Amino acid sequence: MEITDPTVPKYLQNFQVSQECKNLISSLPEERGWVVPTMYKYQGFWHHTWQLQGVLSFQKHFHAQDTDILLVTAPKSGTTWLKAISFAITNRIKYPVTSSNHPLLKNNSHVLVPFVEHVYAENPNPEFSETPPRLFATHVPFVSLPESVHNSKCKIVYMCRNPKDLFVSAFHFTNKLRPQYMGKNSMEDMFDLFCKGVFLYGPYWDHVLAYWNEALRRPKEVLFLKYEEMKEQPGTQVRKVAEFYGCPFTFEEEKEGIVDAILGLCSFERLSNLEVNKEGYLPTGEMKQAYFRKGEIGDWKNYLTAEMAEELDMITEHKFQGSGLTF
Ligand code: A3P
Repeated sequence: MEITDPTVPKYLQNFQVSQECKNLISSLPEERGWVVPTMYKYQGFWHHTWQLQGVLSFQKHFHAQDTDILLVTAPKSGTTWLKAISFAITNRIKYPVTSSNHPLLKNNSHVLVPFVEHVYAENPNPEFSETPPRLFATHVPFVSLPESVHNSKCKIVYMCRNPKDLFVSAFHFTNKLRPQYMGKNSMEDMFDLFCKGVFLYGPYWDHVLAYWNEALRRPKEVLFLKYEEMKEQPGTQVRKVAEFYGCPFTFEEEKEGIVDAILGLCSFERLSNLEVNKEGYLPTGEMKQAYFRKGEIGDWKNYLTAEMAEELDMITEHKFQGSGLTF
């Protein structure tokens, strides 16, 4: 169905889609979508129409620079958190993390570090700041990254999450994003789709594995993180990220407690209770509060049956067999 009402959130719209994207879609395999009725399989991964438009435009027009930093996640892996931490680290000279005027207290982290494919979905020639490092985020699978990213030395930070928690998080999130007239998805239906690999920018396991392998191949340029490790050893992980960005904390900064200050500023409790994150919508139309639910490890136990958990574990074991990656 063609949605032509401009008051409809952007992520539900398809009227701005280019002829090129429409032509491509007509040749792609289809499946049931999580938020809109249909998803399409492009280069081995599933996308809603508006996202596919963004992927195509990003591939065609983006020029990576060696100094760029690209934050990559599959949806619901902790992107909101990774964006906040990365923004706080890379901008700490300009914006001291203890400042009461810090941009993270006034803006949602998805506004400060937008998804680059969303930017390109709307505008093939966006203007980005020229001051390095430029901080971008994306959900785009490794295979679909623009050639210029593959050919540059830009840094990629990938964050993954236990598939059981990720699935539960995605189930809740996408139901919040679905327009009322489409009704809610059932957990059983979405579980079957997820296991089949039909997920936003999925199959999830293929998304993770490609970046995992790249991190093994090019550890200086690709850093692989886990949401669970960030929760369990936040200080170690934040120091690792700062070092990877080429701006490790100085002795003075450490003495002043910068790591705890960054973790406090970016914590679930702090960010989720800010007015700016509780109210309103992102420029792309998503409710800001939908990005903050529980922020815990192991919430899957409250939702998945023992059989569902076992099935996800089996798929994960099978998919990651021999890769060295475990959860
Ligand atoms: P839950 O739904 O399990 O609570 P993404 O940012 O990739 O969309 O992922 C959203 C998930 O990260 C949600 O998980 C959300 O609650 C959690 N999250 C958001 N901000 C966080 C933070 N500052 N610290 C830890 N987890 C956070």
